[in-house]
Amino acid sequence: MNRSVLSACSERPAAPVVFRTVATIGKAARAESKGQKPVILWLTGLSGAGKSTIANRVEDMLWRCGHHTMLLDGDNMRFGLNKDLAFADADRVENIRRTAEVAKLMLEAGLIVICSLISPFRRERMLARQLVGEDEFLEVFVDAPLDLCKQRDPKGLYARALAGQIPNFTGISSPYEPPEAPEIHLRTDAYDVDALAGQVLDVLRHRGITACAP
Ligand code: ADX
Repeated sequence: MNRSVLSACSERPAAPVVFRTVATIGKAARAESKGQKPVILWLTGLSGAGKSTIANRVEDMLWRCGHHTMLLDGDNMRFGLNKDLAFADADRVENIRRTAEVAKLMLEAGLIVICSLISPFRRERMLARQLVGEDEFLEVFVDAPLDLCKQRDPKGLYARALAGQIPNFTGISSPYEPPEAPEIHLRTDAYDVDALAGQVLDVLRHRGITACAP
């Protein structure tokens, strides 16, 4: 093994036992081969706020413009990598941590990564942000009033949570901490999905991430 390309990654006081391997093909080369500037779009909001709908529309728009994308949806992640996790605070913390690490890997692969998770805690969203470069993470607040989410109740989960059948339900029996300074704030009670996805594309254009116009 060529030790000149290795650096210690353990912070334990004893001598490290795990070493970071430097890849021959770097992040910049992977992005360049795809002709794009990778970024993580992190959509956060209540269940029923419209995260998945917007995430899918944004991905579709980017895809049609020739971008290389990946969508990480909280519900879907819970069928695989995160299937051992429930909805207690500690489970959500781990759910967000794992998803953020996967998003980081995909960013390093050169992709535009769209994450769609309730991700209710500010601290964990901040930790996700801190995994990558400053201009590589955009927090997108998918904002709808709780009462509207309860009315929409697309999966019937609010009704079940209000009947006491689902513990730790976000907005009912578990907290949601709204972002204080998201890069993008989408009001899903005021605009339709095309307009909201268009707002995301506008920001991506201003940041030089895409030339794509809806
Ligand atoms: S997170 O809080 O850990 O980020 P995540 O986005 O992965 O949540 O999963 C949320 C989805 O799980 C919701 O869209 C809903 O369909 C489902 N769900 C099941 N139980 C709960 C619960 N107790 N609180 C919130 N969502 C729940």
